[in-house]
Amino acid sequence: MNMKHTIALLLLSLELTACVLTPTDPGLRAEQLLARMTLEEKIGQMAQLTIEPFVIADGAGGFALDTALLREALVDYGVGSLLNVPLSESQPAGVWGPFIGELQRIATDETRLGIPLIYGVDQVHGGTYSLGSTLFPQQIALAATWNPAHARRMGEITAYEMRACNIPWNFAPILDLGADPRFPRQYEGFGEDPYLGSVLGRELVKGQEGDANDVDHPEHVATCLKHFLGYSVPASGKDRTPANIPWNALMEYHLPAFRAALDAGARSVMVNSGIIDNCPVHASRRILTGLLRDELGFDGVVVTDYEDLEKLHARDHLAATSKEAVRLGIDAGIDMAMIPIDYRGFCRDLRELVEEGAVSEARIDESVRRILKLKFELGLFERPNTLPADYPLYGCEEHRRASYAAAAEAVTLLKNDGALLPLDSAAGRKILVCGPNAESRRALCGGWTVTWQGHGIERHPKLCKTLAEALAERFGARNVEVIPGVSYRPHESRYDTEHRDRFDEAVAAARRADVVVLCLGENSYCEKPGDLNDLALDPLQTELAERIAAAGKPVVLVLAEGRPRLISRFSARIPAIVQSYLPGPQGADAVADVLAGKVNPSGKLPYTYPAYPNSLAVYCHKYADEQRNTDATYAYESDYNPEFVFGHGLSYTSFAYSGAQLTREGDDIVIAVDVANTGDRAGREVVQLYSRDLYASLIPDVRRLRRFGAVELLPGQTRTVEFRLTTDDLAFYGLDNRRIVEPGEFLFEIGASSADIRATLPFTL
Ligand code: BGC
Repeated sequence: MNMKHTIALLLLSLELTACVLTPTDPGLRAEQLLARMTLEEKIGQMAQLTIEPFVIADGAGGFALDTALLREALVDYGVGSLLNVPLSESQPAGVWGPFIGELQRIATDETRLGIPLIYGVDQVHGGTYSLGSTLFPQQIALAATWNPAHARRMGEITAYEMRACNIPWNFAPILDLGADPRFPRQYEGFGEDPYLGSVLGRELVKGQEGDANDVDHPEHVATCLKHFLGYSVPASGKDRTPANIPWNALMEYHLPAFRAALDAGARSVMVNSGIIDNCPVHASRRILTGLLRDELGFDGVVVTDYEDLEKLHARDHLAATSKEAVRLGIDAGIDMAMIPIDYRGFCRDLRELVEEGAVSEARIDESVRRILKLKFELGLFERPNTLPADYPLYGCEEHRRASYAAAAEAVTLLKNDGALLPLDSAAGRKILVCGPNAESRRALCGGWTVTWQGHGIERHPKLCKTLAEALAERFGARNVEVIPGVSYRPHESRYDTEHRDRFDEAVAAARRADVVVLCLGENSYCEKPGDLNDLALDPLQTELAERIAAAGKPVVLVLAEGRPRLISRFSARIPAIVQSYLPGPQGADAVADVLAGKVNPSGKLPYTYPAYPNSLAVYCHKYADEQRNTDATYAYESDYNPEFVFGHGLSYTSFAYSGAQLTREGDDIVIAVDVANTGDRAGREVVQLYSRDLYASLIPDVRRLRRFGAVELLPGQTRTVEFRLTTDDLAFYGLDNRRIVEPGEFLFEIGASSADIRATLPFTL
């Protein structure tokens, strides 16, 4: 061997040694770091605190960090994660960047091992807490587009703008099934159908984490799926109250969206704050370990929801002490506790539990390994900070347009008697714009907007137009008169109106007007403060609607609301109804463009809009054959008598369906249908494919959405829409909680909604 070879070999072995010493695999790096950590340092990594107590307001809108308090938490206790926003209010990127930068500096420079923090925020419809960022429609509106591309784009833009704010972890998407219209968080999710939620949820994960889930990419963030599992259907309809959900129903309806998002590689999961079958989910080993880890194979981070370990003691009386509550949560399978304040107690309790042998150090290691691995995957060790200056597209025009596009495609035309819409903008007709939402920005954006309850947007009028402003632009200011009639109370977390606001004047103006645009719904709210005692639209708005309808002029009802408040007391007298959901800051323009005919509406309801408080069935309720079963006792269908069915949405043009056919291609079932635009405007139609299982060992659902797809058609144009599925799509969870495909007779239905079925195709398995 000559000298050259010897040197080459030496270099190679040096390289190999370096590789072994500093592996690039996040799992290996986590393992090496873990081996150097004390028990206290490990416990610190499992602790997550809210930032508020560490922030001192200067009284002029600014703030400083209480560094002594912070050092105690980050350095003495080694706390590894923080959440929330300084002063509980949206901050610009220029504040977020250096603010988190300073926290990271303390964590990386002043602690023994220099482990960076992981900062998490709820950016649930774009930049909730990032001032000047792009805010999107809420997820329920995205669902109404039935267009996965909007979920993808919202994910991408949200992630980009979060990194612009130096925030690497998003507590989103929300995959809770919107099967109960009373639930105050219905708007945060994708509606009542498991399949629609799965398709859009997957895109929202991939948009944020990237196709390859390379979350160390400077424009990607880690997602957190919430709230695992079965959060959204408490028996009372109120947030964080007990639910009863049979296991097979949990699997059949609530799990699919989470499963799809986990399959898409989501990095973390947040636990359901509620109680199922008398067991708080934070104490459910069956859900958090049996299902999530063992069955679904998830190895990412599981974080509790806000103060939820303590709730096992204080709320649920499951644990006699806070310490026992910590033990229960750890035993169930949580990795990180959103404590979020008393970290000294949490750290002491957990240390004692380990010292007493009630929790093994190996169990602590499991969680810390996952948390460190996520920090390595996010690239936080190499680059704890991302800098606002590197993100020139923050809040840019192109991002705003993406938000507008989603809002415009979400707007759902629920009723249009006599083709009242679109309103002819050239006619110079006098329009009265009234209702509490006419001049409210909050009502369009909902909770999680600038502040938790969504009341901050009014302080930033440039971020969001009101409906009255947008309508005045479209139809000419001199043609538009604005009188609220009734109003919300400013600055309060109250979603219903409580005072008249020129009520009689509004009614008198309605008589003078050619057409009335009545803007009703809800003021913003979030979580528990949004709990509801009466699903009907509030009495003052109902009275206003009745009086306006009685004025005898054509009325266009524009709804902006987080959940479908009942309108059946007056809806028969309103010829046109437009649902805008919570369309976000671009929503007023989107609605005005639909009313003016600039946009042909194509949104479809992602939930059932109920008519009565005692008939809240979802579209996929249990099967009954109306034809043969005349005994009303068994006609479950009779309880499904909504104002508007799931999947419903009209257009300014009309679509005809023809030539439906089903073929088999190997294991695939291929279903095709021709859709023609038979009207005189270009339009987009969302075509829905349902299946019915005629007989099954467990009562089958009356129908289930299996696929959907949209076509854009010019007048006179026809296109073929094709769906592919396999027999596995017809499976269900049986009595023994296993997923089975049962042979038998099925029907496939192709529809423009869950009730407007245009073609039926029999299928035998
Ligand atoms: C909510 C979560 C949220 C967390 C942190 C909780 O009250 O239930 O959805 O992620 O707060 O803000």
